[in-house]
Amino acid sequence: MPVLMLKSWDDGPWIDLFTELMPTLDVRAHPDIGDPAEIDYAYVFRPPAGLLASLPNLKGIFSVGAGVDHILADPEIPPGVPISRVVDPDMAMRMTEFCVFAVLYYHRRWPEIATITGRRAWDVPLTPAARDRRVGVMGLGALGGASARALAALGFDVAGWARTPKVLDGVTVYAGSDGFAPFLARSEILLNLLPLTAETMGILNARTFAGLPEGARIINVARGGHLVEDDLIPALDSGRLDGAFLDVFSVEPLPDDHPFWAHPKVTISPHLASIADRRVRAGLVVDGISRLERGERPLHCIDPAQGY
Ligand code: NAP
Ligand code: GLV
Repeated sequence: MPVLMLKSWDDGPWIDLFTELMPTLDVRAHPDIGDPAEIDYAYVFRPPAGLLASLPNLKGIFSVGAGVDHILADPEIPPGVPISRVVDPDMAMRMTEFCVFAVLYYHRRWPEIATITGRRAWDVPLTPAARDRRVGVMGLGALGGASARALAALGFDVAGWARTPKVLDGVTVYAGSDGFAPFLARSEILLNLLPLTAETMGILNARTFAGLPEGARIINVARGGHLVEDDLIPALDSGRLDGAFLDVFSVEPLPDDHPFWAHPKVTISPHLASIADRRVRAGLVVDGISRLERGERPLHCIDPAQGY
């Protein structure tokens, strides 16, 4: 009977779900895992450093989320054990909804409208056509690609930036470090959907902001570590940026006394842009375990050397 160790942020509901989907699975919530040598698979979000290395017979690691930075942050990850992550239309659809909402929030000038109606005034700010609004999407993978396509389908003038060149219908694609400056120069609304890796850490910084059109808005739905937080408020206060919609933060929950809470140009959501359905996520894990038990590789494995 395969044994799965859980170390999520909400272990309780998972046990029944896994047992329903794979009755032969023995599910053990950390720290009550019994003999570590009996654990075959791990389902984790932010495992304590060394936990995975303490499981000598581990055959597969499954990320609770789409991102794996929280797993790779452990310097003792057992080498050679496949790490699979959430890639699913449900996850992509939820992220796309959120990104379209956040882009429309700025495109349709919602922060200004809320201020006007807050004064009970009847001024009408005009909005350019979507075709005249240049949106830039950083990261064109499962989530960035889906969001970029949806924004293009709404008529926005969309460009995307990735590590390697690719073709995406309706999206102008820039790639690699050479493509970054021209990509930024045209991005009035910049949406970040990169994975957090050694290369992308701190990429939303003062230099990047300086490369955007004056008064650009940024939307960060990827990871808090992408943003150099100390660079943001000066950029907003000087008018270099006109708004920041942040779903992720370097410390979560965002501390009570953090200056972002009170800044009039910062919009905050509590890391909820895309939380895929539990049944979908459990289904991916069960599928991955079945594949490994048959001697196959799970779907959606990351390359630890690349960090995503
Ligand atoms: P993905 O499929 O792995 O796509 C990553 C994209 O980023 C790829 O297009 C990749 O380029 C590009 N990229 C990676 N390193 C790069 C670099 N150094 N320079 C330029 N481009 C680079 O990831 P995903 O599934 O779309 O997820 C993206 C991230 O979203 C996750 O890692 C996670 O942090 C975040 N997320 C947040 C939430 C939330 O609720 N806020 C929910 C889910 C996920 P190539 O195509 O050339 O490889
Ligand atoms: C959430 O942030 C995820 O990585 O799925």
